[in-house]
Amino acid sequence: MLLVRNLSQIATPSGSSGVRGLAMRELLVIDRAAIVVDNGRFAFVGRETDVPSDMKFDEDVDAHGATALPGFVDSHTHIAFAGYRESEFNRRLRGETYEQIAASGGGIASSVRSTRSASEDDLVANILARSKTMARYGTTTAEAKSGYGLNKADELKQLRAIRSAGSQSAVRLVPTCLAAHDFPPESRGSEAARESWVSTIIGEILPDVASQGLATFCDVFIERGVFTRDQGDRVLRAGKAQGMVPRLHADELSDTDGASLAAELGAASADHLMYISDRGIQALARSNTVANLLPATSFFLMSDRYAPARRLIDAGAIVSLSTDCNPGTSMTESMQIAIRLATLQMKMTVEESITAATLNGAQSLRLANETGSIEKGKRADFILLDAPNYLHLVYHFGVNLVTAVYRDGRRVA
Ligand code: NIG
Ligand code: FE
Repeated sequence: MLLVRNLSQIATPSGSSGVRGLAMRELLVIDRAAIVVDNGRFAFVGRETDVPSDMKFDEDVDAHGATALPGFVDSHTHIAFAGYRESEFNRRLRGETYEQIAASGGGIASSVRSTRSASEDDLVANILARSKTMARYGTTTAEAKSGYGLNKADELKQLRAIRSAGSQSAVRLVPTCLAAHDFPPESRGSEAARESWVSTIIGEILPDVASQGLATFCDVFIERGVFTRDQGDRVLRAGKAQGMVPRLHADELSDTDGASLAAELGAASADHLMYISDRGIQALARSNTVANLLPATSFFLMSDRYAPARRLIDAGAIVSLSTDCNPGTSMTESMQIAIRLATLQMKMTVEESITAATLNGAQSLRLANETGSIEKGKRADFILLDAPNYLHLVYHFGVNLVTAVYRDGRRVA
């Protein structure tokens, strides 16, 4: 058994499912606390003076006044890529937009070129390196999408790379098939060519992904110039029929009514939502679909348009936060930056942001019964912050406050 004592504070949401609306503010806060781990799970969480005297420890860690939070759950990432796009970033700094760069052959297409030419081993190494950085910044569980292969062989290659990296990485990885991230360069010529890519996804890629057990989730980028709502609907229903749970990129660059499709399909999450309509907000608030917000994307796109977090929470939605880590629109592995932008730009409270970055992220990955909070019986996924209390997570910004990371009770960073 492992004892972590001398914690100034434990701050955690509670429960085995996502938390909705203003209840996201209700953190359990325990001062002068201790944690006991047995067999990879929390065996005791409470005041240090209440640690049962009959417990015997193989390991005794003095936390020196650190604050413990649940490990972050980053429920939207595109970390299985090769090559970077810093020159596109520089073009954006000089005034070109993301969509203009994409239209000129850059954007997702340029990551598709470099990811197709990378070997599976290269991708595994890239994912492991990114997972290591994620862990150093406090993430213990992360979703990882395909979507830079855009043909059957390379989509499967990405998903196999995620699986094999996941078996060795610090972070627990949850795979998503995002073959419907874009149209491959060879299927852009006509409406018929585009439709035939949708048919390939439905008829060939998803069945193989399912039969090889390579993805838990199926995702689609519904956006003007990319997949229509109807195409997204068909892909997600096909994925669902093969046992994959839908989640989707919705209303990121324009309002495509993606949020209400997510609710209709019972999707695990609707992600981005910078342009969500009032109707979309109501649809999510009445559903169990998590509204997954990615403020680092707005920040990195230099947009003043952030998702309406306040309106979503006030309406009663289950809101989560993620990095969107990808080479084009959010080149960061840090959940701390997502949390700081959520509070300082989207006006979420620190308590709401912590719930969003932990338990509600776990809900969107359908893992809230296993992780996302510091509670007896759950997997011992927790982090120590060099901070006297949880408010420092935002108050003391711009630095990495994480000093130790435990996943399944084992120190991984
Ligand atoms: O989440 N929206 C689409 N996908 C990514 C961007 C991917 C890229 O530019 O490579 C996103 O923002
Ligand atoms: Fe994304």
